[in-house]
Amino acid sequence: MCLITSNEDLINSLKKAKDNKMQTVGFVPTMGYLHDGHLSLIKKAKEENDIVVVSVFVNPTQFGPNEDFDRYPRDIERDYKIAKEAGADIVYNPEVEDIYPKGASTFAVVDGDITKKLCGASRPNHFKGVTTVVNILFNIVMPDRAYFGQKDAQQVIVIKKMVRDLHMKVDIVVCPIVREADGLAMSSRNVYLNQDERKQALVLNLALAEAQKKCKQGNTKVTDLKAFIKETIEAQPLAQIDYVEILDAQTLDEIKEIKKQALAAVAVKFGKTRLIDNVFIDS
Ligand code: PAJ
Repeated sequence: MCLITSNEDLINSLKKAKDNKMQTVGFVPTMGYLHDGHLSLIKKAKEENDIVVVSVFVNPTQFGPNEDFDRYPRDIERDYKIAKEAGADIVYNPEVEDIYPKGASTFAVVDGDITKKLCGASRPNHFKGVTTVVNILFNIVMPDRAYFGQKDAQQVIVIKKMVRDLHMKVDIVVCPIVREADGLAMSSRNVYLNQDERKQALVLNLALAEAQKKCKQGNTKVTDLKAFIKETIEAQPLAQIDYVEILDAQTLDEIKEIKKQALAAVAVKFGKTRLIDNVFIDS
């Protein structure tokens, strides 16, 4: 197990493993400050691959000018330790200039509606930054499989589309959302929440789970379910809704009625902290 900061060291150590022993590489890209959600991806990667690489890189290009890039929590010592315990073989922690060489001006962009709705609407260049960095990381690590969390549902759909459109030779594995015991979806950003915000943030999971139940009971009209989720969230005084959407789970197309699997997704600010959550619903 080692902590690697240079691209050259990473490429050399993976080359040896791949050339001599034909070992498979599983890759878990992260921005660090690891929690059990990240660790579930690392454990899954370890079950399915010989070597597991975890990247820890707070990617500047996916943050907007007024977002939390500077204050995003960072603790590489702790990340290294817990990634290792979860089964990581290599933790790759590059500097910004290792990923973006001076003067870099090339981007990987998934065009169209799927990057413009949900988080793409309030964070206009976010997915351009995500797909660019994931593309660069794939080129450096050259994994057989890469692991992503359903927590970032739109990110999964966008990355799968990039991999498909660009014929990239990597399997994308999606892992379920890991929650705190009280239901709050784990996130590195949960540390920003004060006590009241933390308590009120439970409404996200509650509202989504209740909508899922209603749908199962035959309430399949999207406008009604969206209105129910909105009202439930708005009952919490600290919640400021960014979006509440119910869309086709595969394509993110608009739907009126839930006939096959749909994705109910929310983004809500509590104070300065923007949280996202989602659930699959069907009738
Ligand atoms: P980050 O937010 O650190 O998340 C890294 C991976 O962990 C993502 O695939 C995310 O969906 C997954 N994850 C986060 N919370 C989770 C939870 N509660 N349950 C399950 N999985 C969870 O997503 C990013 O970083 C970045 O955009 C990245 C892909 C690394 C590109 O910079």
